[in-house]
Amino acid sequence: MSVRLGLFYPNARAIHTISGQVAARNPDVLDIKSHVAVAQACERIGLDYLFVADAWGAYGPLMSSFGLQDPMLLPPILAASLIAVTEKIRLITTLHTSWFDPLQYVRIGGTLDQLSGGRWGMNMVSGAGFATSITGGPVDLSHDGRYDRAREFVEVMTQAWSTGKVDFDGEHFRIHGAIVGPGTVQQPRPFLVSAGASDAGRDFAGHYADCIFMPGRTPKEELKTRVADIRRIATAAGRPADAIKVQMHASVALRDTAAEAKEYSEWIAQSIDLPAVAEYLNAVRANISTYDDIYSSLGELQMRAIGMVSGARKIHGGPSEVADGIAQLVNEFGCDGVAISLPIWQPEEIERFGRKVLPILEERGLWSHPKTRDFGW
Ligand SMILES: Cc1cc2nc3c(=O)[nH]c(=O)nc-3n(C[C@H](O)[C@H](O)[C@H](O)COP(=O)(O)O)c2cc1C
Repeated sequence: MSVRLGLFYPNARAIHTISGQVAARNPDVLDIKSHVAVAQACERIGLDYLFVADAWGAYGPLMSSFGLQDPMLLPPILAASLIAVTEKIRLITTLHTSWFDPLQYVRIGGTLDQLSGGRWGMNMVSGAGFATSITGGPVDLSHDGRYDRAREFVEVMTQAWSTGKVDFDGEHFRIHGAIVGPGTVQQPRPFLVSAGASDAGRDFAGHYADCIFMPGRTPKEELKTRVADIRRIATAAGRPADAIKVQMHASVALRDTAAEAKEYSEWIAQSIDLPAVAEYLNAVRANISTYDDIYSSLGELQMRAIGMVSGARKIHGGPSEVADGIAQLVNEFGCDGVAISLPIWQPEEIERFGRKVLPILEERGLWSHPKTRDFGW
């Protein structure tokens, strides 16, 4: 069984590295040619999937100023263009259940799934996607209330995709009737990812997810506890425990030699924009109300460490070190795959990963090129 590797897709100029200097070296995110080159490079080297995240509001003005999360291309639209220039690689698009209606997504997803030949999956996010600054949005519910809506959302989509009609009376949706196709999708519904780790998030994952994505920084024991809990919920719900795969998230900075990688990593570290890191932490940890609170509790080195990778695991190094980092996530953390984000996402960086790291993983029996099996999740 090969480890599944995917690209945490750069649908924004900067991806997990909080640095204007790094962002400035990236391709133009609003130029479709950048995306064609990235997606085709990923397929060529043998990544299994592209994972396209989403947000509706930015972390804050500093991060927006250099392109982290803003502008951010809407995943299903980006995916529609990428399926036309790829043949096998799979695409996971993030879906915020607070901002869509399930019938909209039944049709968006049915179309993507059909046109891609069943290569489409979705990452269901119940949150508002950092859009707390937007008032008057479609859904203003409590944390757990949003998960209730997400649950009904999946039920409606599953009914529509399996039967072509919906007969649903819930707290959030009352929908009855047949809808037009394309309604046939990977049965009974497309591949579903979730990434919430709260009590309600684990419950949702246990009932519905085919795969959970974990932040790469989660400590090993905590990860195992969370995964065991999700699998226990799955079993109680009548699903096989191994129905749920685990993907970790890592930020990879690779160079041809360990010495060059050290230099590259040090350059990234010095380029981190500390006030923007504070803004990021403030946004993701809403309980910390001022930037000063964060500054006083974290030292500069910790701030830089966070700025280099956000929530991802840092895997910086030469080819064997990067292969070791991935092998560790598989062998010690027990994950089934890794979603990789690249600070600089020029296609050459993807090709370098394919040329230097994948052969090592193959030699160690951890990975095989999807052309020898099938592209999977
Ligand atoms: C690997 C990974 C990817 C995620 N992608 C997104 C995303 O694209 N958009 C988003 O708003 N939240 C994203 N999240 C956040 C979660 O899906 C979820 O909304 C958050 O963890 C809050 O849920 P919780 O309270 O159940 O933990 C991601 C989390 C992880 C670990």
